[in-house]
Amino acid sequence: MSTDPALVHTFREVWAELSGIGRAPDGGYLRFAWSPAEVALRDWFRVQAARRGMPVTDDGNGNLFAVWSPTSDERLSGAAPGGVLTGSHFDSVPHGGAFDGPLGIVSAFLAVDLLRERGFQPTRPITVAAFAEEEGSRFGVACLGSRLLTGAIDPQRAAALTDRDGISLGDVLGATPAGARPELVARFDAYVELHVEQGRALAGPIGVASAIWPHGRWRFDVEGEGNHAGTTLMTDRRDPMLTYAFTVLAANKEARLRGAHATVGRVEVTPNATNAIPAAVRGWLDARAADDETLAGLVEAVAKKATERAGRDGTAIRFTAESTTGEVRFDPTLASNLAGLLGGAPILPTGAGHDAGVLSAHLPTAMLFVRNPTGVSHAPAESASDADCAEGVKALARVLEELSAQPLVDHDEGVAR
Ligand code: GLV
Ligand code: MN
Ligand code: MN
Repeated sequence: MSTDPALVHTFREVWAELSGIGRAPDGGYLRFAWSPAEVALRDWFRVQAARRGMPVTDDGNGNLFAVWSPTSDERLSGAAPGGVLTGSHFDSVPHGGAFDGPLGIVSAFLAVDLLRERGFQPTRPITVAAFAEEEGSRFGVACLGSRLLTGAIDPQRAAALTDRDGISLGDVLGATPAGARPELVARFDAYVELHVEQGRALAGPIGVASAIWPHGRWRFDVEGEGNHAGTTLMTDRRDPMLTYAFTVLAANKEARLRGAHATVGRVEVTPNATNAIPAAVRGWLDARAADDETLAGLVEAVAKKATERAGRDGTAIRFTAESTTGEVRFDPTLASNLAGLLGGAPILPTGAGHDAGVLSAHLPTAMLFVRNPTGVSHAPAESASDADCAEGVKALARVLEELSAQPLVDHDEGVAR
């Protein structure tokens, strides 16, 4: 693959349309699902789709689909999403990077342009998706949109999830989400998500995913006794901050012992006063491991040690699973075919979660990674060069060309025709 200056220029121009949306002074992004910034990105999606004559459908779960249909096939023409699915998400973690999510959507539209410029006619539709609330930064459950679409979460439970201001998803949508749409999922033949690499494993511009580590989020609530910082004897305290601090250290130690990952990146302290012993501390444990058993063992060990410690501190601790994802192995044949198509791109696993992981339980799914020179993600320093992003567009176009040219699957009969 060689760098194409016109494509680099086009990428830079389109990317610049998004770069001011939801950007904080530190250079990070605040693009929570259905926030004004994320809604602006959704509007941008509709404009891009309209420019390309791609009808947009909302699946009732907040996921958007823009469709390029082969008009020669009457049965498949029109607005119905289907065929080869590609895309990603717009939402970010608090002060996240620019690329995690939007790169996959921008690249999808530009890949469609590239194929059209070449006069390529897909045999089956190509659908560009913007999935909702992938990071779970607003409502706490990762990949919420794709989970709803595939029936991995109950829509009533999802509707009742609340954000930090107590606003529920049902309030935001003005309705209970539609939930599982098996007839829609069945119309897709494959999903390919392009994503910025979230590490520094790539020597070349492009990689292909093999697997996603199992991972999850556990909220832990520690209750103690609020009291005066100056007058309460050290021996009389029931300080939940101590139990919290111990839990953070235990998570780090247990993860290291297992070659796993554990992070506590969010905490809420009540009442959060300098001169008061807290009454309660709430933390969130993000834990990930190479296999389900190791992950379960890690979380169990942390909970056990934290509970013992709470006994010594005179506090109480309770763990609640908010979002869990089992091990994902992407279709190995598809991954090796795509790697071959892309000139022997490396195939590598990731510790990051993606909608592709949720969808992989329902259809052949693959991911392409674009090199990230800093290796940083979920932080402002996340990066990818324009030239590598242009290579990503070319790689995605090549993959879509291949997949959308294969014999059509008859969705009524379930057979190739
Ligand atoms: C999503 O990016 C995650 O891995 O948490
Ligand atoms: Mn992310
Ligand atoms: Mn992402």
